[in-house]
Amino acid sequence: MVIFFVRHYLRPRYTMRVTPTTSPATRNEERDVDPPPASHVAVGGVHSLTSVVPEYIVQMHNLHKTYLLGIEGVPALRGVDLKVVKGHFVMLLGKSGSGKTSLLNLIGTIDQPTRGDLNVCGINVKHGMNDAVVADLRLQHLGFVFQTFNLIGSMTAFENVMLPTLLKNGTATAEAKANALRLLQRVGMGDRLDHYPSQLSGGEQQRVTIARALVNSPSILLLDEPTGDLDSKNTETIMRLLIGLNLEGVTMIMVTHDPNLKSYAHRCIHMMDGRIYNDERIAPEVREKNILELGGIDIPNQNGGKVSVVVDDAKNSGEKQDESVIVMRRTEVRKPRKFYSDLL
Ligand SMILES: Nc1ncnc2c1ncn2[C@@H]1O[C@H](COP(=O)(O)OP(=O)(O)O)[C@@H](O)[C@H]1O
Ligand SMILES: [Mg+2]
Repeated sequence: MVIFFVRHYLRPRYTMRVTPTTSPATRNEERDVDPPPASHVAVGGVHSLTSVVPEYIVQMHNLHKTYLLGIEGVPALRGVDLKVVKGHFVMLLGKSGSGKTSLLNLIGTIDQPTRGDLNVCGINVKHGMNDAVVADLRLQHLGFVFQTFNLIGSMTAFENVMLPTLLKNGTATAEAKANALRLLQRVGMGDRLDHYPSQLSGGEQQRVTIARALVNSPSILLLDEPTGDLDSKNTETIMRLLIGLNLEGVTMIMVTHDPNLKSYAHRCIHMMDGRIYNDERIAPEVREKNILELGGIDIPNQNGGKVSVVVDDAKNSGEKQDESVIVMRRTEVRKPRKFYSDLL
């Protein structure tokens, strides 16, 4: 009875028919669909009565990637077929060398396929395509997060997040600064603006990286083992953040080695020897249960449409949270590492 009540009560909270805070367009509506054969099942586990054709944000057919190493060809991808529904959280799993990073790099237009068809956000990605088109696709639609945080060590968290805008526009407008500040607040790093990467923990650095990846409001976040270097607590923090962003409509394609993270995804693509050998759908109720167990993600019902991820201590203290802001667990400020003295 209790279980029935809890499920009955909690279920609508994960209905995706909420209005996203970031965009007035009903981005989330598309997420009430799933690719065939499960096209009638909503992401939140709610059955949709209308059969809506899923909108694919990434499509590939018979995709091959062969690297040239000297005179030898190293086949990294050997005929991959995949369609990713807009708004889905897709994880790529597989042993080292199975082609996960190669696939992610092709989707991210960092690299181009040797053979086959690839369409990302409506643009056909192929060899010799116009640089301006590729740059535009990246700028407008794609955000990258890597395992090694790739922050610039001589720049503060704020400057790191400002970097994409500076590179794009050459100058930092007040609007761009406000945007960087908002994003750092969004990932719970609003009080660490002046900290250098060496003064931040791995989890905090990754949050700054995620803020940087969000600068251009990407439609897709491509993540290559974003929790690979993190302990379980920081992994949970990052997963809360990513799930929150996904619930707001950002499509996630994430490489991971960690099978424990599988059930936060809609779908897990298992790769082996450059091919997909298993396309695993996570049952909506399993995903929902795992997200609830992860905790700290609160999605109000239809009225609000806001996602808030709240720090445990603030929650316990009864402090009122601004629902539009994701606040994360705070950690201590570290002193900058003394690289040279450490080596002596
Ligand atoms: N730049 C490269 N040059 C040559 N071979 C590469 C390159 N990148 C990846 N490979 C090879 O392609 C295969 C797939 O690699 P990768 O996509 O990195 O796998 P994963 O991310 O699953 O570990 C491996 O055999 C790897 O050695
Ligand atoms: Mg890899």
